[in-house]
Amino acid sequence: MNFDFEGYIDFKSFVGRYDVLPNKIVELFREFEHPKKINIIDLGSGELTLLEKMNDALSKHYNTNCIAIDDSKDILGNILIKYGGSLPDFLHEFVQQDIEEYIKQNDGSWNLILLSHVIYHIPLSNWIQLIKRLQNQLAVNGKLFVVARSIKGEWWSIFENLQRKIEQFQLSTYRFSEDFEKALRETGINYHKTGVSYIGTVNNLSQLVNAFEFLYRLPSGYVEPESNLHKSIAFSAQNKIVNGDCQFGFIDEIFMISSLNE
Ligand SMILES: C[S@@+](CC[C@H](N)C(=O)[O-])C[C@H]1O[C@@H](n2cnc3c(N)ncnc32)[C@H](O)[C@@H]1O
Repeated sequence: MNFDFEGYIDFKSFVGRYDVLPNKIVELFREFEHPKKINIIDLGSGELTLLEKMNDALSKHYNTNCIAIDDSKDILGNILIKYGGSLPDFLHEFVQQDIEEYIKQNDGSWNLILLSHVIYHIPLSNWIQLIKRLQNQLAVNGKLFVVARSIKGEWWSIFENLQRKIEQFQLSTYRFSEDFEKALRETGINYHKTGVSYIGTVNNLSQLVNAFEFLYRLPSGYVEPESNLHKSIAFSAQNKIVNGDCQFGFIDEIFMISSLNE
C-alpha cells in the first residue's frame, strides 16, 4: 500500500458502483412501459458520473432529456473541467440549487427521478415530505430511485470500527438505507427494494480517506494528513490489502418508488 498523503483526489476511481448501479436501475426502469421521450432528473447529481452512465444505457431505447440539480458551489466548475469547458451534450440543464427548494418551486412530470447517495445530507425529518413531493411529480409509470448505502457489507464494518474509536465520527448525521426503509414503512409508502453489491478497491490511503470523508463533513473539511483519524483509517485498512490494493465490499440498496396515483 502506497501511503500517499498528497491531496484527496481521484475519489471516483475506486467506486465500482458506476458500473453495477446504473445498469441495475436501468433494468428496473425498463420493466415498465414508458414513452419514447423520457424526462430524467438527477437530484444531488455530483459530477454527473452516475447520470452519464445511465444516459448511455437509456439513450439506446429512449430520447432522453436530462436535468441535474446540485447545491454545491463547486460542482458546476468541476463539471465544466471534466467535460472540457461546456456542459456535456446529454445534459439539457444544470441547476445549482437545494433539492427541496427546487422541488417546491418547480412542477415536473418526470419519467425517472434519481436521488442517489443524497439522503444522508437531508435531515431525516424532511425525508418523507420530500419523497411524497417527488411521487407527485412522477409521470404515468414514472419511477423514483433512491439509492443508499446499507450497513451490510465490509465497508460498514471498517466504518463502525472507526466510529467506536473516534469522537468526531459520533457527530455524524449519516443515515443509511435501513433508516430510510424504516421511514418508508412507518409512513406506508410502497417501494420495491433491490440490493447491489460490489468490491471497492482503493490503491492509496488518500482514496480510502475520501471514502469516509465525503460522508463526514469534518469541521476542517478534510481528514488531516498524519492525524489520529488518518492513522486509524490506515489501520482499519491494513488487513484488507490484497496485492497492494485495499479491497472491501459495499452494498447499496435501491428503493424504487412509484407515483401516488398508481
Ligand atoms: C455523495 S454525492 C452523490 C453524487 C451522485 N448522486 C452519485 O450517486 O454518484 C452527494 C451529492 O449531493 C449533493 N447534495 C447534498 N445535499 C444536497 C441538497 N440539499 N441539495 C442539492 N444537492 C445536494 C452534494 O453536493 C453532492 O454532490
